[in-house]
Amino acid sequence: MAATVIIGAQWGDEGKGKIIDYLSKNADIVARFHGGNNAGHTVINSLGKFAMHLVPSGIFNPKVKAVIGNGVILDLEVLVNEIKILEASGIKLKKRLFISPRCHLIMPYHKIFDRLYEEAKGDKKTWTTGRGIGPTYADKVSYNGIRLLDLMDKKQFKEKLQIQLLIKNKILKAFGEKPLSQKEIEKNFFLLFNKIKPFIKEPFSLIQDSLDKQKLVLLEGAHGMFLDNDWGTYPFVTASNVVSGNITAGTGIAPKFLTKIIGVSKAYTTRVGSGPFPTELFDKDGETLTERGNEFGTTTGRKRRCGWFDAEMISFAAKINGFSDIAITKLDVLDSLASIKICVQYKLNGKTVRYEDLSSEMLKKIKPVYKTLEGWKTSTNGIKTFDKLPRLAKEYLKELERQIGVKISFVSTGAERESIIVV
Ligand code: GDP
Ligand code: IMO
Ligand code: MG
Repeated sequence: MAATVIIGAQWGDEGKGKIIDYLSKNADIVARFHGGNNAGHTVINSLGKFAMHLVPSGIFNPKVKAVIGNGVILDLEVLVNEIKILEASGIKLKKRLFISPRCHLIMPYHKIFDRLYEEAKGDKKTWTTGRGIGPTYADKVSYNGIRLLDLMDKKQFKEKLQIQLLIKNKILKAFGEKPLSQKEIEKNFFLLFNKIKPFIKEPFSLIQDSLDKQKLVLLEGAHGMFLDNDWGTYPFVTASNVVSGNITAGTGIAPKFLTKIIGVSKAYTTRVGSGPFPTELFDKDGETLTERGNEFGTTTGRKRRCGWFDAEMISFAAKINGFSDIAITKLDVLDSLASIKICVQYKLNGKTVRYEDLSSEMLKKIKPVYKTLEGWKTSTNGIKTFDKLPRLAKEYLKELERQIGVKISFVSTGAERESIIVV
């Protein structure tokens, strides 16, 4: 059995957590490979409602081993809190949660830098989640990061922290910020470290063993393809690579295993934060999507911008990630609309243009070409078989499939685990 990959095909919050929770019933391992607690994956099942920021969403299946791969960056306070919440809900984590010691740590100065960069950009800011994500990855690639590995050796951690504070406190001072205390950080980090110590173990051989034995390894993408640092709408992106190609770097799984790659997309589009959004709606239909879809961020509570499905973007996402399947979520949110639009092409100054050729500035100027379909105006909420869907909903899905060129294998019709159609 190959590894199965879940990738957000839009700007995040596509419902990846729900799909992972559903698919994990057959999985041996569920692993995160990038990002940090800027991710917020909602899972609703018989155990309750959970907002997962770092621990993989497959943890609710008792047979699953959950892996936080080396590509993930860790805010130890958030991690400890998440572990506490899960254990309080009766979920056993001992011998089930494995955290790579190669993970980089989000340090207190990274969170301050995140805010300072945003403030400096004024109205051109990215509207980051403020979790210190960009500055942490920046230190990682410039060899200034501190890893979990370093925390395992107190002396090494102290030495590395000292060097970083020498630089960071100078910058903080220049911005009129209070310098950070080495002693305080050490004390706090050693305390947090003790709480996660039992879960630290390089998961490489565990994953390889599972792949060798043909067991199912699920990879849980975070964010969305168009927040990818290289292929997204730069600079309105996140700091990691979201594309499936980053799995090798973030977990040590060779590309040959990545053959089943499921792109998750809402039946419409949303985006949190700033940046271009060609199909964004500012009218009553947009309000309907916000209200019916309850489009408020899982991590920050911010209102999500809403718009029509963008087939130009998703067909690009399908190619670059190698989607073998598509999961369409939140179909039920469209239930009340009289007509529904799909963007099938981009025009710039009257000429057809492709996503990959456009900068964020150009993307702001493109005119979407729409195909309009009749709405089904009846509830699809909780429907579990394709046959039971209204005819017009089936036609909408068929049109999406035609436009993307990849088969739709899952349709989600509600937030709960059971509200899903396997096509
Ligand atoms: P993720 O970051 O991709 O895991 O997505 P989020 O959890 O941030 O956002 C998706 C939201 O949609 C959550 O509130 C989910 O509970 C909800 N959701 C997921 N699938 C469906 C669906 O099919 N219908 C409806 N109505 N809500 C859904
Ligand atoms: P999940 O995994 C939605 C967005 C932020 C901001 C930009 C950069 O829940 O789909 P960052 O804090 O990463 O430096 O912010 O990226 N962003 C997300 N938007 N869902 C997410 O994750 C996101 N992760 C980052 O809103 O615009
Ligand atoms: Mg989310």
